[in-house]
Amino acid sequence: MKHSSELSWLPCFCILFCGLLVSSQLDYRFYDNACPTLTKLVRNGVWSAIANETRMAASILRLHFHDCLVDGCEGSVLLDDTSTIKGEKNALPNRNSVRGFEVIDAIKANVEKACPDTVSCTDILTLAAREAVFLTGGQFYAVPLGRRDGLSASQSAANEQLPTPLEPLENITAKFTAKGLEMKDVVVLSGAHTIGFAQCFTFKSRLFDFGGSGKPDPALDTSLLQNLQVTCPNQNDSNTKLAALDTTFDKFDNNYYKNLISNSGLLQSDQALMGDNRTAEMVMYYSKYPFLFPRDFGVSMVKMASTGVLTGQNGQIRKNCRAVN
Ligand code: HEM
Ligand SMILES: *[C@@H]1O[C@H](CO)[C@@H](O)[C@H](O)[C@H]1NC(C)=O
Ligand SMILES: *[C@@H]1O[C@H](CO)[C@@H](O)[C@H](O)[C@H]1NC(C)=O
Ligand SMILES: *[C@@H]1O[C@H](CO)[C@@H](O)[C@H](O)[C@H]1NC(C)=O
Ligand SMILES: *[C@@H]1O[C@H](CO)[C@@H](O)[C@H](O)[C@H]1NC(C)=O
Repeated sequence: MKHSSELSWLPCFCILFCGLLVSSQLDYRFYDNACPTLTKLVRNGVWSAIANETRMAASILRLHFHDCLVDGCEGSVLLDDTSTIKGEKNALPNRNSVRGFEVIDAIKANVEKACPDTVSCTDILTLAAREAVFLTGGQFYAVPLGRRDGLSASQSAANEQLPTPLEPLENITAKFTAKGLEMKDVVVLSGAHTIGFAQCFTFKSRLFDFGGSGKPDPALDTSLLQNLQVTCPNQNDSNTKLAALDTTFDKFDNNYYKNLISNSGLLQSDQALMGDNRTAEMVMYYSKYPFLFPRDFGVSMVKMASTGVLTGQNGQIRKNCRAVN
């Protein structure tokens, strides 16, 4: 690192001390000198992926969330399985569900051409998620960079640490607070479901026999219910069909919160935000003031993207996002 070499004449304790103060932190200008075209390369890559398939914006945003929530943002979700690593791609919440790996690979290849061995895969994913939000109409937010890629991945950690739509809000909140996030971040970041899709099996339990009642979930609007029963008929072969998470599924707006107020959240975990007075109050607030959601979303994203990061000399800059060097 630049800082360490400049200070290399100093006694060891100072290198360690200064290292802690200077190079072990994320920095908004981290790649300004080392890779000045980075932002443009990431934006172009995300733009062309979205131009080909609009949903890819949502998929990239989710991939970043799944990277960060499991042992911190260190690109672990990007690693393929090997004979020694049982990776996260095949964990229950990810298998046949998270997408966008090819997009990150393509951006990484372009970044390697411009600035070899310089930019981590997890920073590329962090920037790509920001571009996905911005390019679908959300607010631009600056993200500090300098994350390094991890050397391992854990399928069991992914199974334990990622939230599922069927667990209660309390449990989901606990998974966020374990990462230094708060209940407010759960409400704000769930607003990511303003874009994208979910497969029928992730919410089907609400449509026909909710909790063994023989009836649909009473907290689901009847006209949305009728549409969903058509999209997801009560038979196994409908499990992988898709339904939009939001009425405006390709626009990063605050309709997600408006929908929750009219009992039109798709996932049980979405609608559960209305079942607790503390979170319901925040939902009302974001539905009422459209400019507050994008602003707070950027703040919570930066917070999420700073959890459990590797900096300084820790980790590595992967050459190929799918494998440890
Ligand atoms: C609060 C707990 C959360 C739960 C239980 C949850 C669960 C889910 C589920 C089940 C899906 C559908 C997956 C599929 O059908 O294959 C989904 C999609 C999605 N999630 Fe979440 N999620 C949560 C929070 C978040 C957060 C914090 C973000 C990002 C900041 C996020 C971003 C997305 C996006 C953008 C999609 C659509 C992906 C696509 O269309 O490819 N989710 N989520
Ligand atoms: C474009 O999107 C389709 C899915 O809609 C996908 O199968 C294809 O690989 C994508 N092509 C490129 C060049 O990204
Ligand atoms: C919620 O968390 C509690 C305590 O960790 C656990 O006992 C319970 O099984 C969890 N519920 C669900 C549905 O995952
Ligand atoms: C549907 O899937 C469930 C669980 O995998 C299985 O028990 C059931 O027999 C399947 N039903 C049909 C009609 O295939
Ligand atoms: C939540 O709000 C409802 C309706 O305003 C009220 O009846 C209930 O007592 C409140 N619960 C808590 C725990 O504050």
